[in-house]
Amino acid sequence: MTERTVVLIKPDGFTKKVVGQVIDRFERAGLSLVGLKMVQLTQEILDIWYAHHKDKPFFPDLCKQMMSTPVVAIVLEGDNAIQKVFDICGPTDPAEALPGTIRHDFGVDKPHNVVHRSDNAEAAAKEIC
Ligand code: PPS
Repeated sequence: MTERTVVLIKPDGFTKKVVGQVIDRFERAGLSLVGLKMVQLTQEILDIWYAHHKDKPFFPDLCKQMMSTPVVAIVLEGDNAIQKVFDICGPTDPAEALPGTIRHDFGVDKPHNVVHRSDNAEAAAKEIC
C-alpha cells in the first residue's frame, strides 16, 4: 500500500551535517521525497507536535533541543513507507539500534537520536498537516 510519512532531521543531525546522508538512505530504499523544508520550531509548535509527551519529565529538555537549530522536515512516500522508515531509522534509543540504521550510525543517545519519524499511520496523517 502506498503511504506517506514524516521525518524530522533533528538539531543533532543538522549540526553533525548528516542531512544528505540521512535523506540518501530513504531514497536508496526506494522512497520518494514529496516534501522538504527547513523549519525553525517554536514552543507553540512543539506543544502541539509533542502533546503526547507534555507531562513527561524530559519535555522541557526535548523542546530546548528541538529549538536549538532549524530542523529539516521531509515527507516520504512509497510502498509500506511507515514501516520502511521505522526500519531505516531504528529504535528510539541508538544503543538498541542495529548497525546500518540511522540512529545506530549517527545517533548518540535517546535525546540525540538524529531523526523523529511518525509512530504510525494516524500520527503520520496528523504530522503531514
Ligand atoms: S516515551 O516516554 O517512551 O514515550 O519516550 P521515548 O519514546 O523514549 O522518547 C520520546 C521522544 O523524546 C525524546 N527524548 C528526549 N529528548 C530530550 N531529552 C531526553 N532526556 C529525552 N528522552 C527522550 C526522544 O528522542 C523521542 O523523540 P522523537 O522525536 O519521538 O524521536
